[in-house]
Amino acid sequence: MKVLILGVNGFIGSHLSTRILAETDWNVYGMDLTDHKLKGVIGHERFHFIEGDIAINKEWIEYHIKKCDVVLPLVAIATPKTYIENPLGVFELDFEENLRIIKQCVRYNKRIIFPSTSEVYGMCTSESFDEYSSHLVLGPIPKQRWIYSCSKQLLDRVIWAYGQNGVLDFTLIRPFNWIGPRLDSLETAKEGSSRVVTQFIAALVFQQPIVLVDGGTQSRSFTYIDDGIDALMKILKNEGSMATGQIFNLGNPKNNCTIKDLAAKLLDMYKHHPLHRNDTKYSEIIIQDADTFYGKGYQDIYTRVPSIENARERLRWEPKISLEDALRMTLDSFLIEKSSDHASPCPED
Ligand code: UGA
Repeated sequence: MKVLILGVNGFIGSHLSTRILAETDWNVYGMDLTDHKLKGVIGHERFHFIEGDIAINKEWIEYHIKKCDVVLPLVAIATPKTYIENPLGVFELDFEENLRIIKQCVRYNKRIIFPSTSEVYGMCTSESFDEYSSHLVLGPIPKQRWIYSCSKQLLDRVIWAYGQNGVLDFTLIRPFNWIGPRLDSLETAKEGSSRVVTQFIAALVFQQPIVLVDGGTQSRSFTYIDDGIDALMKILKNEGSMATGQIFNLGNPKNNCTIKDLAAKLLDMYKHHPLHRNDTKYSEIIIQDADTFYGKGYQDIYTRVPSIENARERLRWEPKISLEDALRMTLDSFLIEKSSDHASPCPED
């Protein structure tokens, strides 16, 4: 099988490529702006990488959509701070560029596995979010945080409509706060624009305060990347068309945790980590209001727990990695990378 991954150097793309090359005889064709997360796969005979931009290298993309069997368009801005600072950038990249890819999959009759997001549920009040019955609840227009959710939601609806018309073979996946090595870079976290786990690890490493937005009582269900990739591999293999035309929440409801507890756990792990247990100073935990941390365009999501019944039933998938293990492995990877990487700073995502 030939798999096209746009955004192959990202968090999900890099882990997925590694797994595909290790476990299958498939070829991966990948594009991204840089290749710094692809150290383990660059040079592999079945890994075909081109440095490029999906907004520019359109001919390469169209040619490879025609050539490949399945397309994963993973290019997107996925950090809340950017939704507020550059909403049009989010719309242009996450929506417009991806819509073109979706339409080409229709034109060339190719299967698409599209990354929707847990964010589409917005401020849904259900105890756990269900793909087929939960309401998708967004805030008012000046709250630009929702432009990402809204862009993804409309693409979900477009894909669903093409599927209903019988012209697109698709699967929609909704990752719920996947974490692990290579999540975001510690450098972007310095500007406050990484996702929360990288943000807290960067605060620990650079001895800055860990900031709990609005007190940190909001929660997320953190999911280890290897569990997520297990599900993606099943979806790619698609035995008996188990994933065709389906939406899957891919998250770990058992790992639901408040942001306050997350900060405490990471601080404790850091203090006991062999590389830092003898440090003389550690980050303090402080509280900041959301307007100060993100700006006025922000609105938070207080609870986000996935129902994973559909993935359990159809994919026979169950996330296995506990929050403690997931955080320990994530923290470990960043600290090891940092300690071996002083001389060569990581390029931005
Ligand atoms: C994320 C992003 O939108 C996407 O990466 C993705 O689609 C989705 O959720 C996901 O990974 O499932 P969110 O979970 O709100 O959204 O993003 P984070 O930046 O990781 O923030 C999580 C929570 O921590 C928020 O309540 C935020 O206010 C809080 N936070 C964040 C802090 O308290 N302190 C910080 O330094 C950063």
